[in-house]
Amino acid sequence: MGFSTKVGAILAAAGSAVGLGNIWRFPTETGLHGGAAFILIYIIFMLVFGAPIMLAEFTIGRHGQKDVTDSFERMSGGQRGWRLMGLMPVVAGLLVLSYYAVVCGWTLYYAFVAGVDGFGGKTAAQYVSDFQQFSSSPTQPVVWILFIMLATCAVVSFGVKKGIERSAQILMPMLFVCIAILVVCSLSLPGADRGLHFLFHPDFSEIDGSTMLSAMGQAFFSLSVGICCLCTYACYFRKDVNLFHDSLSVAVIDTLVALMAGLIIFPAVYSVPGLQPDAGPSLVFITLPNVFQQVFSGSHLLAYGFSLLFYCLLVIAAVTSSISMLEMVVAYLHEELHWSRPAASVAASAVAMLLATGCSLSFGAWADKTVFGLGMFDLFDFIVAKLLMPLGSFIMCVFLGWVADEKVVRDEVTNGGTLHTVLYPIWLFIIRYIAPIGIILVFIHEIGW
Ligand code: PHE
Repeated sequence: MGFSTKVGAILAAAGSAVGLGNIWRFPTETGLHGGAAFILIYIIFMLVFGAPIMLAEFTIGRHGQKDVTDSFERMSGGQRGWRLMGLMPVVAGLLVLSYYAVVCGWTLYYAFVAGVDGFGGKTAAQYVSDFQQFSSSPTQPVVWILFIMLATCAVVSFGVKKGIERSAQILMPMLFVCIAILVVCSLSLPGADRGLHFLFHPDFSEIDGSTMLSAMGQAFFSLSVGICCLCTYACYFRKDVNLFHDSLSVAVIDTLVALMAGLIIFPAVYSVPGLQPDAGPSLVFITLPNVFQQVFSGSHLLAYGFSLLFYCLLVIAAVTSSISMLEMVVAYLHEELHWSRPAASVAASAVAMLLATGCSLSFGAWADKTVFGLGMFDLFDFIVAKLLMPLGSFIMCVFLGWVADEKVVRDEVTNGGTLHTVLYPIWLFIIRYIAPIGIILVFIHEIGW
C-alpha cells in the first residue's frame, strides 16, 4: 500500500511541503520583515529545527508502517495513551485544508483569469477592487474551492501509489520547470538588481525578536511539520528509505523553492517604479497581476504567458499540499475505522468543503462573525499554524527524545545502525534539547505573551 519508489516518496513529501507557504506566504513574510536578514534566519531555522523535526516525524511514521495512531503506540513500546496523537492529523488536517482550500480556490480563479487574458488594461486601483470583490463574494470563490476539492478528493481516492505518488511524479517536475522559466524571465527585467539586493544583502539592524520568531514559524508551516502530516506519509515509506537523506532533501528542495519564488517576485516588484515589496498577503493577488502587465507592457504575449505560468505554478504547488492534508484525515478513516478510501475521501472532502465555505464567507458576509477578534479563516490559521504546529512539534520531540526507547529510535533513524551513525547523536541532541526549548520560545511569542 506504500510508495513504490524512493523518488516517489521524496517527491510526495516535497509536494506536501512545497506549497502556498513557499510561493505566497514566504514572499509575504520576507517583504514584511525586511528581506535578506529574515531569509538568513529562516534558512538557519529550516536546517536546525525544521529538518530535524521532519526527521522525527518520518521516524515515528516509518516505524509504525500503518497510520499515525498505530505509529505512536508502537514507538512508545505499547503505551495505548499515545494513540490519542492519532487524532492530531484528523483535526489539524480538516482545519488546515478548510482555510488552505480557500487560497487554493483564489489561485485557481486567478489562473483562469490569466488564461482568458483578463488582467490587461486595468488601473492599480482596479486590481485591488477586483480582488476584494471576488474574495468577498458569497458564491464565486466557493465554486473555485469546489473544483480544488474535487481534484484533491479524486487523487486521494485513488490511493497512495496510483493517486498521491503518481500525481507527485507528474506535478513536481512541472512545478520545477515553471519556476525555472519564471526565475529566468524575472531576472532579466530592468530593475532586477534591486530585487536581488533586497533578497541577498542582509541588513542586520532589521533583526529583532519578532523577525527571529516569525522566521521560525514560517519554517514550520513551510515544511508542514508538527501536525503529523509527514508522519502520515512516512507510514507508507519502505524500510530501506534513508530518512536522514529524505528529510534533508525535502528541507533543501523546500528552501530552494521559497528562494526561487523570492527570485521571481521581488525583481518583478522592483522593476515597477513605486511598488513596494511589503504589500503583505495581497502581494500575490493584487501587486503581481499589476506587475506582470506593467513590466511586459511592450509585449502582450509575454505578459499573458508570464501571468498564466505563474498562477498555474501556484495551483500545482497548492494542490500537492492539499492532497497531503486530505490524506491525513483519510488515512485515519481508512486504517482505523476501515472505511474504503473513496468513501473516506468523499466524506472528509465534504466536511472540509463545508468548513471552507465558512472560511471563504469570513471575507464577506461573515466578516463580522469573529471569535477573539478573528474571522473563521484567520481563526483556523491561528489554531493550526500558531497553536497546533508548535505544540505538535514539541510533543514529538519530547516523545522521541524522552519517551520512546532510544535503541528503537536509533535503529529506525539509522536503518539498523547502517546509516549516518555520526550524525545521529547530533540530531538526538537537537530533538532532546534545542528544538523543544526553541519551540517554547516561538509558542510564547505567537500567543502574544
Ligand atoms: N507546507 C505547505 C505549504 O508550504 C502547507 C502545509 C501545511 C501542508 C501543513 C501540509 C500540512 O504550503
